[in-house]
Amino acid sequence: KKTFKFTVLAGDGIGPEVMDQALRVLECACKGEDFELSYSRHDVGGAAIDSQGEALPKSTVDACSQADAILFGSVGGPKWENLPPAKQPERAALLPLRKIFKLFANIRPGLLYPQLTDASPLKKERIPNGIDIVCIRELTGGIYFGEKKTYKTEDGEDAACDTMSYKVSEIERIAEVAAQTAMSRGKKIYSIDKANVLQTSVLWRKTITAFMEKNYPEIELKHLYVDNAAMQLARDPNQFDVLVTENMFGDILSDEMAVICGSLGMLCSASLGDGSNSLGLKFGLYEPAGGTAPDIAGKGIANPCAQILSAAMMMRYSFGRDDIAKKIEAAVRKAVCDGVRTGDIAFGNAAVSTKEMADAIIERL
Ligand code: NAD
Ligand code: IPM
Ligand code: MN
Repeated sequence: KKTFKFTVLAGDGIGPEVMDQALRVLECACKGEDFELSYSRHDVGGAAIDSQGEALPKSTVDACSQADAILFGSVGGPKWENLPPAKQPERAALLPLRKIFKLFANIRPGLLYPQLTDASPLKKERIPNGIDIVCIRELTGGIYFGEKKTYKTEDGEDAACDTMSYKVSEIERIAEVAAQTAMSRGKKIYSIDKANVLQTSVLWRKTITAFMEKNYPEIELKHLYVDNAAMQLARDPNQFDVLVTENMFGDILSDEMAVICGSLGMLCSASLGDGSNSLGLKFGLYEPAGGTAPDIAGKGIANPCAQILSAAMMMRYSFGRDDIAKKIEAAVRKAVCDGVRTGDIAFGNAAVSTKEMADAIIERL
C-alpha cells in the first residue's frame, strides 16, 4: 500500500480547532482507498514558543523535510505580540517555512457558490452565478523578504525601512504558474501591480508581458494597478479569471476576495514550489488564507471549511488524487448549500459549531 505522508502543523488560536475537523474529514474521505495517510503533529508558532522556546523548532522543520506535504493551520495572536518582532510566530515560523521549502506560488481560489451569495457583501444582482476566480500570489519575494532595518535619521529620529525587490527569474516562475492555471481555465490573466509608482512593478509588468508573448500568446493578458484592482474586485469580480500579483498585493487582495466570496473562513490555499516529493509530485504547504481569529478562538465556532478545502488541495497537488479532492470539495459545497453554516456565513440563520460543520460534510462525503 502506498503511504501519503504529511506533517500537521496546527499552530495557534482557531488553528487546532479547524485542524482537528479537517483531519476527521480527510480520514473519512480516504477510508477504503488503496493508500494510507500517515501524519504526525508538530509544534509551530506561538504553541512552539510556549512549549519549546522558539516558533519553528528544528525538529518541526526536519519532520517537514521528511514528509511529502505540510498541512498548516495558522499562527500568531495577542499572546506573542509583545515579543521582539523577528521572534513572533508569523515572522519566525510561517515566513521561514515558505522560504525554506521555496514555496513561491500561493494559489487561492475565490469561489462563491451561487447558493451562498447571501453571505457575500456584494449585491446579488452583481453575482447571479456566484464567483469563480483564482488569485496567484508570489510568496517568497517582494517586501516581505527584502532587507529590513530600524535606524536613526541624521536628526536622531527613529525610522524604519523595508525593501521591496524582485528578480526577473522570480517573476517568470510565478508567471508560469499563472499561465498554467489560466490554460486550465479561461485563458485570461490580470496581472496586478503599481507600475505607475514602483520600480519593482515596472519590472514585473515588463517581465510578465514578455513571458506571456513568448510562451503563451493564446492567453489574454491585462494589467491593472492594484488600487483599481481592489475596486474592480468589489465592483465586478467575475471580470477576473486568474489574477497574478506580488506578495503583499496578493495578501491584501486575497482577503478582499475571501469576503466577497462569503468569508475568510472559506478561503483555502496551496503554497507550491518547484520541489517534488517522494511520490514524484509537488511538495506543498496547504493552509487557510485566514489567521488565528483571536476574536472567536476557543469557542468552537470557527469555520473549518478553509482548512478542509486546503486538505483537499493537498490531495490534489501533493498526492495526485484529484478524485478525492473533488469528493471533499463537493461535500463541503453540498453542506453549505444545504444551509449548514457556521456563524461567519450564517447571517441571521442558525449557526452550527465547527464540529457540526465537519459532521455535515462527513455525512455528505
Ligand atoms: P484573522 O484572519 O485571524 O481574522 C480576521 C477576521 O476573520 C476575524 O474577525 C476572524 O474571526 C475572521 N475569521 C478568520 N478565519 C475564520 C474562520 N475560519 N471562521 C470564522 N471566522 C474567521 O486576521 P487577524 O485578526 O488580522 O489576525 C489574527 C492573528 O492571525 C494575527 O496574529 C495574524 O498575524 C495571524 N495570521 C496568521 C495567518 C497564518 O498563519 N496563515 C494568516 C493571517 C493572520
Ligand atoms: C497570509 C497571512 C500571512 C501573510 C502572515 C500571517 C505572515 O496574512 O498567509 O495571508 O501575510 O502572508
Ligand atoms: Mn493574509
